[in-house]
Amino acid sequence: MFVLGLQGSPRTKGNTSILLSTFLTEAQRLGAYTQRLDVARMNISPCLECGTCEDEGFCPVDDDMQQVYLLLRQADIIVMATPIFFYGATAQMKAVIDRSQALWARKYVHKLIDPGRKWRRGFLLSLGATKGKNLFDGVTLTAKYFFDAVGASFDGSLTYRKIEEEGEIEEHSSALEDAKEKARDLVTPFLGRKRILFVCTENACRSQMASAFVQYRAGDKIEVESAGSAPAEEINPFMEEVMMEKGIDMAFRKPKSIEEALRFGKPESIISMGCEEACPHFPGATKQEWDLPDPSGRSIAFMRQVRDDIEERVGRLLSTDIVEKQEA
Ligand SMILES: Cc1cc2nc3c(=O)[nH]c(=O)nc-3n(C[C@H](O)[C@H](O)[C@H](O)COP(=O)(O)O)c2cc1C
Repeated sequence: MFVLGLQGSPRTKGNTSILLSTFLTEAQRLGAYTQRLDVARMNISPCLECGTCEDEGFCPVDDDMQQVYLLLRQADIIVMATPIFFYGATAQMKAVIDRSQALWARKYVHKLIDPGRKWRRGFLLSLGATKGKNLFDGVTLTAKYFFDAVGASFDGSLTYRKIEEEGEIEEHSSALEDAKEKARDLVTPFLGRKRILFVCTENACRSQMASAFVQYRAGDKIEVESAGSAPAEEINPFMEEVMMEKGIDMAFRKPKSIEEALRFGKPESIISMGCEEACPHFPGATKQEWDLPDPSGRSIAFMRQVRDDIEERVGRLLSTDIVEKQEA
């Protein structure tokens, strides 16, 4: 499983940073794969309100946000961590939030379903120097709308007043323990999922479609990954189009190698589809082969047939005991 932490303070060793690191370290200790982005150190410009995302479903601004979209779509849990600057998030965090308008547009204008959105969770960590009653009202509202746009249910927050000097959060009576406890609460349900890895050759069509169908239908019970024995540069545009016909959004997916997919955890079941002897084998993992033709380089009608075949096979797979939850 994957926990993404967005760190919004310009002080990379400040209070927000310490609080987020505490959360992520605990998540990692439990077995999660974690990644922290210091957004103030990244090249992410504010939204230009050009309207491209509403017309075409993507943001044309070519900067580090393009990588963040991929990570937001991959994450099971997103933690937004920011100090209060003038009753809101920092400007650097706000740039990330505003640029998530591209994901908002895919959801609300283009009416596409991100297959992970039913299960993804969002959590806010915030702190400020003063003790005003309404100190976190602004940032909480912003976080709620941000999480909705990126397809995550808002799971609440931990907020701390009267934290100003660098490192002061470490003196707080409960903050670091609270962050660890919250990490345990959020991460534990995800760790009980059965892990399945779909593998094909390029990870551009078949294994991508299979993993999206499984994630969409049973992402709470199954942690699904896909990979290719010889990954392509990009996913196949015909594949994206035929999945879009089903309402499923395949944007921001990149073909992965088997090693990259294993970062998120070792699979208990491997389902291969044409990767032949390059398919991995792990002791203890069950293995099955789906005999599916490679649609790459073929017509869109053929891609549709393969999609439907995969959807049916996923339906059968999910009706077996493969979906039984494991003990965490
Ligand atoms: C530009 C700026 C604006 C700030 N605005 C507020 C504010 O409106 N309310 C508040 O309580 N603290 C405010 N602070 C204080 C920070 O929230 C506080 O110092 C916090 O501990 C910084 O977190 P960090 O160590 O993670 O950077 C502001 C600080 C700066 C630099």
